[in-house]
Amino acid sequence: MTESLSPVVEMRGISLAFPGVKALQDVDFRLFPGEVHALMGENGAGKSTLIKTLTGVHRPDSGQVVLAGTDVAFSSPGQAQEAGISTVYQEVNLCANLTVAENILLGREPRKLGGIDFPAMRKRAAEVLSRIGVHIDPASSLGEHPIAVQQLVAIARAITIDCRVLVLDEPTSSLDAGEVAELFRIMRVLRDEGVAILFVSHFLDQVYEISDRMTVLRNGTLVGEHLSADVDRRALIAQMIGRDLGALEAIEEAAEKHQADGPVLVQAEGLGRRGAIEPFDLDIRAGEVVGLAGLLGSGRTELARLLFGADKADSGRLLVDGKPLHLRGPRSAIAAGIAFSSEDRKGEGLVADLSIRDNLVLAMQAARGWTRPLSRRVKDELVEKYVAALDIRPANPDALVRTLSGGNQQKVLLARWLVTEPRLLILDEPTRGIDIGAKAQIQHLVTTLAAEGTAILFISAELEEVVRIADRIVVLRDRHKIAELDGSASLDEVVELIAGGAAPEKVAS
Ligand SMILES: Nc1ncnc2c1ncn2[C@@H]1O[C@H](COP(=O)(O)OP(=O)(O)OP(=O)(O)O)[C@@H](O)[C@H]1O
Ligand SMILES: [Mg+2]
Repeated sequence: MTESLSPVVEMRGISLAFPGVKALQDVDFRLFPGEVHALMGENGAGKSTLIKTLTGVHRPDSGQVVLAGTDVAFSSPGQAQEAGISTVYQEVNLCANLTVAENILLGREPRKLGGIDFPAMRKRAAEVLSRIGVHIDPASSLGEHPIAVQQLVAIARAITIDCRVLVLDEPTSSLDAGEVAELFRIMRVLRDEGVAILFVSHFLDQVYEISDRMTVLRNGTLVGEHLSADVDRRALIAQMIGRDLGALEAIEEAAEKHQADGPVLVQAEGLGRRGAIEPFDLDIRAGEVVGLAGLLGSGRTELARLLFGADKADSGRLLVDGKPLHLRGPRSAIAAGIAFSSEDRKGEGLVADLSIRDNLVLAMQAARGWTRPLSRRVKDELVEKYVAALDIRPANPDALVRTLSGGNQQKVLLARWLVTEPRLLILDEPTRGIDIGAKAQIQHLVTTLAAEGTAILFISAELEEVVRIADRIVVLRDRHKIAELDGSASLDEVVELIAGGAAPEKVAS
């Protein structure tokens, strides 16, 4: 289909080294007009770096970038954009304090009499948003929306730019099925108009659904380019991880549910907050994995924030070990042994300019209070333990967080809470942006921690993993807790409840 055309982008022999890492070695890549091309590889394989050498964020040490037959060497992302390459980067780099409309049209605002035409700008933004099925007020400030919505705004921005190349680096990591479908619909429209689309995702289902061709990277080198129809999952995974699937399957199988019969650790009684989550009851036992399932906006994160004291409840109470706990904020939750790994990597303050070790040590120390210092040896042991358990790469505790790939930063975020050894660990989208191998490892780790007695509240937009590891599943819809299912519930049952297939009063427990 596309073979007869010549590529719109051709990268030849691209190499780029950062201190201590050869991020790309002699990589060839081609992208054709009218195709969706998936760039595949494990966390740290070099996907984002390859994209950044295309868009002028990085200059390659060697190699050639050809756009529509002409050699190019962009020295800034702005130049690449002017040349028709529109990019959504993995780190959403919008301005939280500007409005949604400003973010979408930044630098391209409609003008009138020398000034910005704000009504026209809002109208234009509303049009683009509705085109991708997002109904939010364009005049609201970006920062008040959840990460998934911010991601959609970044996508809206990218598609308003008249482009011939559209680059989407993990655009779907926080999106729900419906939003992904909407995005794919638009991608197909653009593709059929002849736009070349480069797409990165760790969700293999999505990759197979949308892509025509794939390029696979491993450790900064090219391992293959195929038509998607020509390579099955097993072969693809084997190429990405460079070994047989057996090891991966063993880890997956090891992530096993078990019967949680520990005492009730945390109890919510009629806990609620107007506009965020309706009053709900919830018991979480020591050693239990409770999964939270619901669509975006169903109140998943809001529920978690109440348990952590990040937001104040306006009804009900929270008990820990049977005793009421007055949450005056996250600090009192942390003191009670409750940890919350939030979905917001940036907002939660991984300190990018500190090392992996320092980020972890800060968290440990903060959780214990500064009056009870840990010995250097204990700290080092914990850091080492979790760098290994999560397979953080590079496995060098002294590496600066900002030099890690997106997925590896996500692992550090998780490790930061694990080192505090909490009694209740709330995980909000812990496997977002994590490759399939590491995802299996994290699921395994969650079930292991539970077996050791940690209570876990596991939130994920990916229902498969909730169903796979949760001992009990709490279903939310429209900010109500509508049901509680035991761990034997099937994916279909959960999907039906979430989508509103069954009447809530019939299933509420
Ligand atoms: N600014 C930087 N300084 C030093 N090393 C870097 C920098 N950016 C990336 N790296 C390293 O380059 C390698 C490739 O990283 P890259 O971000 O391209 O991975 P990726 O394939 O996008 O992974 P992920 O799926 O986790 O997003 C990694 O080893 C990473 O640690
Ligand atoms: Mg990346």
